[in-house]
Order: sequence, then structure tokens, then C-alpha cells
Amino acid sequence: MNLHQRIRSEIENEGPMAFERFMDLALYDPDGGFFTTGTLRSERSGDFLTSPEVSSQFGETLARYVIRERERIGEPFELVEVGAGSGSLIGPLLQAVDVPALAVEASPAARDALVGLIPPDRVLRVLPERIRGVVIGNELIDNLPMALAQRVDGGWRERWVGVDDQALALVDAPPRPEVVAWLDQFAGDVREGGWVEAQLAAASWVRDVLGRLEAGSLILFDYGDTAENLLPRRQDGTLRTYRAHHLGPHPLDEPGETDITADVNFTALAATAESGGAVVELQRQDDFLIGLGLGERLSELRHAELKAARSGDDMERLRLRTLKTEAETLLHPRGLGDFRVLVARR
Ligand SMILES: C[S@@+](CC[C@H](N)C(=O)[O-])C[C@H]1O[C@@H](n2cnc3c(N)ncnc32)[C@H](O)[C@@H]1O
Repeated sequence: MNLHQRIRSEIENEGPMAFERFMDLALYDPDGGFFTTGTLRSERSGDFLTSPEVSSQFGETLARYVIRERERIGEPFELVEVGAGSGSLIGPLLQAVDVPALAVEASPAARDALVGLIPPDRVLRVLPERIRGVVIGNELIDNLPMALAQRVDGGWRERWVGVDDQALALVDAPPRPEVVAWLDQFAGDVREGGWVEAQLAAASWVRDVLGRLEAGSLILFDYGDTAENLLPRRQDGTLRTYRAHHLGPHPLDEPGETDITADVNFTALAATAESGGAVVELQRQDDFLIGLGLGERLSELRHAELKAARSGDDMERLRLRTLKTEAETLLHPRGLGDFRVLVARR
């Protein structure tokens, strides 16, 4: 049986499943999940393009943050990247700064790729018990399973996954108390009919990491915004799929064959991190990278490209232009620059 058939059979035997169970199976089922089977997903030839895949300058710029944190907390110190994908962040970062590093990955294909960059015993499936240093997650939180809810009659209903005429379909379910508690705290003033992805697993994950972090920082990059700024997107909600760099089919249509994701509610993440005892800062990705020197680097690249053009060194001009375009892409105010960065420090 393929994953679609197994999901249907589970629903036929046990009744509708919560959306986060469906998303967990679709993305992480060991025999059919999008991330756990098949090829590496987060690379140029894959299904979506992330900041570190755009440019090694992302990891190189982050190295400056890692150096500062090592100066602040001293030794022992290690870098942990969770959901490290192809290694396009951790590779350049480790070229720029020599620190002990670990990569944590749910995807076997990604773990294979990472073994080429860091020793095999440093590529893990789960987080280590204790961490002292910097933990980084780029576009990780948006892939953690979410509950799905809709505003009705001033209250909430959950949307679970059932079967309708052989096909998977969203069905009504009474909201669970923990989901309502999350929605009441973090969804904001959602209008009648509005859709919200309740990110309880993301909150548990942040609590778990901070519980392991003795000193240092957790840095999370993702698309999303504060609860308030997400309100205009609530009419249809932000749940979506990606495949081959384009928006894909409805999330229920091809479980295991597409990425399933939604905008991250950074108000919820920040509140969770603060209640875990961390000092929290929320910034735009362009501001964060400029604060670490990428803006100056871009000016240098622009000047150097001009100089190479004047001197007639076409190869050098082309190399510099590529680097310049990549840095501009990372900082684009309506693209990757508009991503959010949560830094939780202790
Ligand atoms: C969207 S990809 C991003 C990959 C990489 N960070 C990048 O920016 O190119 C998300 C990655 O997180 C991994 N992942 C998801 N949940 C995870 C978890 N709980 N622990 C470790 N890795 C996880 C997936 O396998 C996938 O490789």
C-alpha cells in the first residue's frame, strides 16, 4: 500500500485524523514521507530554494554571529544545525569559523549529503542531550506538523482529515482544548471563516531545545510574521504545498509527494522562548544580515565589480557580479529579506 492508501485505511479503521497527524505522515512517514524518502529536497534541483541554497554568503555571514557568541559564553562551545538539508549553510559556515559542529536531520538523503561535510558521528537524527553554543534552524519550523482550525460563530472548529468518496477530505471536528488555548493566545482577532494553522509542535520543539541549551542562542529563520501581521492572510489561511519550486496541489491530494508548509507565527515562538527563560529578539532577515556585515560586503562587491569592468577583467567581473546578485537576493526586501529571524539567547 502506498502512503495515500495507508492514510485512507487508518481513517476508515479509526475515524478522521487530526491535521497534524496527516502532516506528520505526509512529510515524515519512514516509508512514504516527503522528507524521509526519495531525494534531497532542499537543493537547487529539488522542490524549493532556501537562503543557504541561494548563496554560501548566508552561512559565511552567520559565522560572524557564531564567533560573537563564542566570545560571549566561552568554551565548551559547539554549533548545532537542525534540519541542515544539503549542508549549504553549515558547510560555508565551518569554512569561515573553526568550531565543533553537529547536524541534526530527519531525512536520510540529507544525512548522506551531510556526511560529506562533517564526520559521520556528528550527523544525528535527534538533538543531543545538552548544548552549549549556537543552534540554527533555517526553514525548519514551517515544516513541523500543525493543527488546522477555522473561526466559526465567534469560536473555533478544527479541520481534520477524513475520507469522502475514496478521496481524502477536510472534515469538521470539535476543537481540542490545547488547540483552543493556542488559538486564543496566538491567533489574534481572526474574522469569521478565517483559517489558522495552530503551531503547537513548533512551540514544543522550541521548549525542548531551550531545555537542552545551557548557554548560547537558538536562531530560527523562516517565512511568517507576527500574529497581528498575519491577520490579512487568514481569510484563506497560509497552508500550502511546494513542488519543483512552484506552488503544488492541495495538501490532501498527494501526501508524500509535496512539501506541506505554512507561515510561521513568530509571536507564538517568541512567547514560548521567553517563557522558557530566553531573551528574545525578532528581526527581519535583511536587517539581521546587514547587522552582521552583509550590507557592507554588498557595497564592496559593487565597487569591486565596477573596478573589474574598468580593468577589462571579464572573468573576475562575472564572478563578482554573481556574488553581488546572490547577496542582493538574500537581502531583497520583498523576498528573502522579508523572512523573520528569531534569536533566543540565554
Ligand atoms: C525546508 S528544508 C530546509 C533545509 C535547510 N535548512 C535549508 O535551508 O536548505 C527542512 C529540513 O528540515 C528537516 N527536518 C524537519 N523536521 C526535522 C526535525 N524535527 N529534526 C531534524 N530535521 C528536521 C527536513 O528533513 C528537511 O531537510
